[in-house]
Amino acid sequence: MKKIVISSYGDISVLKYIEFTMDKLNDDEVLIENKAIGVNFIDIYHRKGIYKPDLPFTPGIEGAGIIIDAGKKLSSDYIGKRVCYVNTPGAYSSHIKMKTKNLIIIPDGITFKNAASLILQGMTAHYLINDTCRLKENDTILLHAAGGGVGLILLQLSKLKKLNVIGTTSSANKEDILKQQGCDHVIRYDRQDFLSETVRITKQAGVDVVFDSVGATTFFKSLKCLKPKGLLVSFGQSAGKIPPFDILELSKNGSLFITRPTLDDYIRTSEELTKRSNDIFSLFLSHGLSRISCNEYSLQEAGLAHKKLESRQNIGKIVLIP
Ligand SMILES: NC(=O)c1ccc[n+]([C@@H]2O[C@H](COP(=O)([O-])OP(=O)(O)OC[C@H]3O[C@@H](n4cnc5c(N)ncnc54)[C@H](OP(=O)(O)O)[C@@H]3O)[C@@H](O)[C@H]2O)c1
Repeated sequence: MKKIVISSYGDISVLKYIEFTMDKLNDDEVLIENKAIGVNFIDIYHRKGIYKPDLPFTPGIEGAGIIIDAGKKLSSDYIGKRVCYVNTPGAYSSHIKMKTKNLIIIPDGITFKNAASLILQGMTAHYLINDTCRLKENDTILLHAAGGGVGLILLQLSKLKKLNVIGTTSSANKEDILKQQGCDHVIRYDRQDFLSETVRITKQAGVDVVFDSVGATTFFKSLKCLKPKGLLVSFGQSAGKIPPFDILELSKNGSLFITRPTLDDYIRTSEELTKRSNDIFSLFLSHGLSRISCNEYSLQEAGLAHKKLESRQNIGKIVLIP
């Protein structure tokens, strides 16, 4: 068995590829042979120590594979099932053991790579658009990093709801893809001021909701893009941490709302997990969600995958193949 281990926080050189022997299975656990592992921006926060898992640790929280063993308390029917999982630490590994609570059965027609590309970012986009806000047809949203993993799915779900979407991105390649995916307006926030552009596009009205996963470089201007009583959904910090801010900024800018959600809280019950994963897989199978590119690296090349994601050059999803 092979896995990546991090013994100190830092740049990609801290990602070490090692051989290991798995501890014995607990009675309530299954053993999964990973076939595809999802790379997410949070893996970079963990590696750098922005969020600090205890050292040493194996990064990664998302994967898809086959159950090859089941603990004594579990039925042998588990063995051979194709499954995926999210928010389970230690995914950058050829094998992982876990309790069954967070397991999602992969439906027929969905490959391991599809599942590992889709499940975490798909369920994130799903809760963001359906459960953090109340949007109706023709409302306008501002979606930062719209060409990223979560961004491209959120864009598609927004268009299914007939929302007007203003997307930001830093590259011409992503701009083209956003237009193909139906983004109504694209702002190149690397060279255009997204606040004045949003004001211009909305004819001074502002947007109903901003989805901001960029953080440090966008947060304060995002507040100013909102209509009175608009909502800022701050769900990430790809550009760095948001500094502490004065809550009076919300009243000064029009009695605004703000939320800082996380996926864990929107898949707390098995009903929620099942509903969200079913919705996302069904949309994918019915072509309601288009098949966005999936860039592959071997598990050993996890560092290159992180470099690509950090460089802002990646479009869609990155998966590691053990
Ligand atoms: N709260 C939750 O439940 C939840 C769940 C999943 C993910 N997230 C967050 O959602 C965000 C997107 O995650 P993802 O895995 O789909 O990543 P991603 O969007 O594929 O990659 C991050 C994107 O952020 C943009 N960006 C802007 N400034 C950046 C900088 N200084 N360095 C790097 N990228 C920068 C880049 O797009 P441009 O080049 O177009 O600007 C880049 O492609 C992350 O912040 C992640 O932590 C939150």
